[in-house]
Formats: sequence, C-alpha cells, structure tokens
Amino acid sequence: AGTVRLWDVVLGESGRAALLLGPLAVDPTIKNAGIGSALMRHAIAKAARLGHAAILLVGDAPYYERFGFSAEQTGSLAMPGPYERHRLLALELVEG
Ligand SMILES: CC(C)(COP(=O)(O)OP(=O)(O)OC[C@H]1O[C@@H](n2cnc3c(N)ncnc32)[C@H](O)[C@@H]1OP(=O)(O)O)[C@@H](O)C(=O)NCCC(=O)NCCS
Repeated sequence: AGTVRLWDVVLGESGRAALLLGPLAVDPTIKNAGIGSALMRHAIAKAARLGHAAILLVGDAPYYERFGFSAEQTGSLAMPGPYERHRLLALELVEG
C-alpha cells in the first residue's frame, strides 16, 4: 500500500550521522487514508528508538511540518546536486 525508506548519511566533514528519508509513497488509489502519516510516525518512532539523532529529507514542507520537520532545522547544511533550498527539511530526534 505504501513505502518509506531511510538511509544512513553523514553530515559534512564532521561526519555526524543522520538519516535521509525518502522515498515516501502511497498507492494513489488509496491516498488520504492516513497511510503516509502512519508510515512517517512509525519511521520517526523507530529511528528515535534506535538512537538516531536527526532525520533529513527533501520534500513539501506543508506535508512534513505536521511531523515536526522544518527548513529552519537544516541551518547551513547543503546537499550535492540541484535541489530547492526551502525543501531541505529536518527533524531533530536528539537536541543539537
Ligand atoms: C504524499 C503522500 C506520501 C501522502 O500519503 P497519504 O497516505 O495520501 O497521506 P495521509 O493520508 O497521511 O495525509 C493526507 C493529508 O496530507 C495532505 N497532503 C498530501 N500531500 C501533500 C503535499 N504534497 N503537501 C501538503 N499536503 C499534502 C492531504 O491534503 C491530506 O490533508 P488533510 O489531512 O488535511 O486532509 C502520497 O500522496 C504520495 O505518495 N504522493 C506521491 C509521492 C510523493 O509526493 N511523495 C512525497 C515526496 S515530497
């Protein structure tokens, strides 16, 4: 019905670990039934339980901010290749 993936990444030269979330996708015939939200909540809870410090993603803030993601959290982070800056979002699981 749907899928979400999280990938281990490291942040810059400091090499701090984080997760990169994506893709998140739901079968279009059953959109708006809460599956995307359930996958997101499950992924975030499991990442926190496993001790991950942060989750990054590139996506629509109006969708992801309901789970706590924000472009303010990505600060001076940048990704290689083309992307829209305001779509680089993050959720802190561990403060800082
Ligand atoms: C985005 C996606 C994963 C949402 O999954 P879903 O199971 O349909 O979502 P949910 O049922 O949990 O949530 C539905 C709510 O999210 C909103 N929503 C869906 N996509 C949105 C978007 N891109 N921006 C803002 N809101 C969005 C819906 O309007 C709905 O709002 P409501 O709760 O006020 O009615 C799904 O539509 C999808 O697979 N889209 C195509 C792939 C994609 O765009 N992936 C994300 C990349 S940014």
